[in-house]
Amino acid sequence: SFEPSSADSHENFVRCLYNYPDITNTISNVVYTQTNSSYSSVLDHTIENRRFSNSSSEPLVIVTPLDVSQIQATIICSQRHGLQIRTRSGGHDYEGLSYVAQVPFVLLDLLNLRQITVDEESRTAWVQSGATLGELYYSISQKSKTLGFPAGVCASVGIGGHISGGGYGLICVNAHIIDVNGNLLGRQAMGEDLFWAIRGGGGASFGVIVAWKVKLVPVPSTVTMFDVSRTLEENATEIIQKWQLVAHKLDERIIIRVDITRVNSNKHGKLTIQARFVSLFLGGVEELIPLMQNSLPELGLDRNDCKETSWIGSAVFNNALLIGSSGNEPPESMLNKTQIRFGNYKGKSDYVKKPIPIEGLRGLLRLLCDAKVEYPLVQLAPYGGIMNEISESEIAFSHRSQYIYHIHYGVTWQEEGDEIAQRHMDWIRRLYKYMEPYVSNSPRAAYINYRDLDIGVNNNGFTSYTHASIWGLKYFNNNFKRLAKVKTKVDPKNFFRNEQSIPILSVET
Ligand code: FDA
Repeated sequence: SFEPSSADSHENFVRCLYNYPDITNTISNVVYTQTNSSYSSVLDHTIENRRFSNSSSEPLVIVTPLDVSQIQATIICSQRHGLQIRTRSGGHDYEGLSYVAQVPFVLLDLLNLRQITVDEESRTAWVQSGATLGELYYSISQKSKTLGFPAGVCASVGIGGHISGGGYGLICVNAHIIDVNGNLLGRQAMGEDLFWAIRGGGGASFGVIVAWKVKLVPVPSTVTMFDVSRTLEENATEIIQKWQLVAHKLDERIIIRVDITRVNSNKHGKLTIQARFVSLFLGGVEELIPLMQNSLPELGLDRNDCKETSWIGSAVFNNALLIGSSGNEPPESMLNKTQIRFGNYKGKSDYVKKPIPIEGLRGLLRLLCDAKVEYPLVQLAPYGGIMNEISESEIAFSHRSQYIYHIHYGVTWQEEGDEIAQRHMDWIRRLYKYMEPYVSNSPRAAYINYRDLDIGVNNNGFTSYTHASIWGLKYFNNNFKRLAKVKTKVDPKNFFRNEQSIPILSVET
């Protein structure tokens, strides 16, 4: 009786939920139809990209479940009444896929599922998908000064999307997922294939992940941060060139990211490029300085550039760089539920196998400097270290030792209007085209957490494996076929689908 039917009215879906056996009588408090006065505020509260905030493709109903049984009921009733589901945790999907769809759909928003339990002794934490990275970092810091969790820098990013799409999936030792039949499965019940797939293959193709059990990592009680900027006039190009040669080979305790953007060079308003070298070192400043003098003396790092702090202090500092605050906020700032909105944005990504020649770098920096856009940004994040020790097929996230660093391209704008949006989109696409000769190819690898619909889309969630390979190989490389096999096994009717979901193997279109 749970067979999918053609799209039905959302009233029938809501009736199905209200009549669903064994779900608590609170269900009516967590269902929002478009006539509900709170509908817009619930929909809007984690729309991170303003490009999608006035989308005409809004959900017919929003459900904000309080427990597993309400998720199970939502999955079953959606299928009965021919509605799609979009699952949202932190709402940071670059293309809005967690809350926008071109088909009638229900938004399953996990905002009420954000419980975190840290077990210091076993060095693990259970974290529900609706929690943010900031909440996880804060909870860890409340239990221990010498445990951490290596994940993204932005505190408001959701656990649900980040871990299922990311390179951090290896440090998950268990998960709870609800499958297409409404079954709640732990690691053993879901089997190794599905557990493999949801660690980097994107959760949305396989079910609704309720919680993750993550492994925490030891960190020293004192770590050191620095944030040093150099403009073109201060040899930024040459320092980036040197960074490319060494960043992936440095001592495993240090990571140096480069954020490149455009700034005014002087009071006459002349534009220049600024490269910001942002680093976390798992140790004290006394050890860091000689290490930097050996490996990247061109940066001229001074001990006054460095700040010793705790691991949670470094997370606050990193987040502050992103949102433009001072970095001196207390750890509680990581719990801030009011999202910092970055405005309209478009992101893309690349992976680099060998250093880009200096002429190529100069061209990239020229494109950034001359861009007729509000806020262009290119971020370089080194690989190497532990990434080299994990095989490509260990989990679904495949980008490992073959790359020396990863590039994130972004453009953000506040002004509204189609023409303005088009100008910004055109610019970032031009930049991406320019980079083609310098980055990985066959496939030109991309990071699913920096989702980019330009690289290919499914036909309303249905397409052949061959067609989906256009973008699937970019995200998952040799793991794409296995992901499609797992998908075919666990969701053979392709209920959990979106514009870039994993295809089932039998569809030939
Ligand atoms: P969201 O809720 O939008 O979900 C993203 C995708 O996952 C959607 O397809 C959604 O349906 C699916 N999904 C979400 N929850 C699910 C669940 N419980 N079960 C099944 N499927 C689920 N990345 C990075 O690696 N390092 C970084 O430092 C940053 N920083 C950063 C800053 C900012 C401002 C943004 C906007 C993004 C980043 N990211 C990032 C990218 C981020 O990791 C990526 O967008 C994540 O997918 C976001 O996860 P959310 O849960 O917030 O997104």
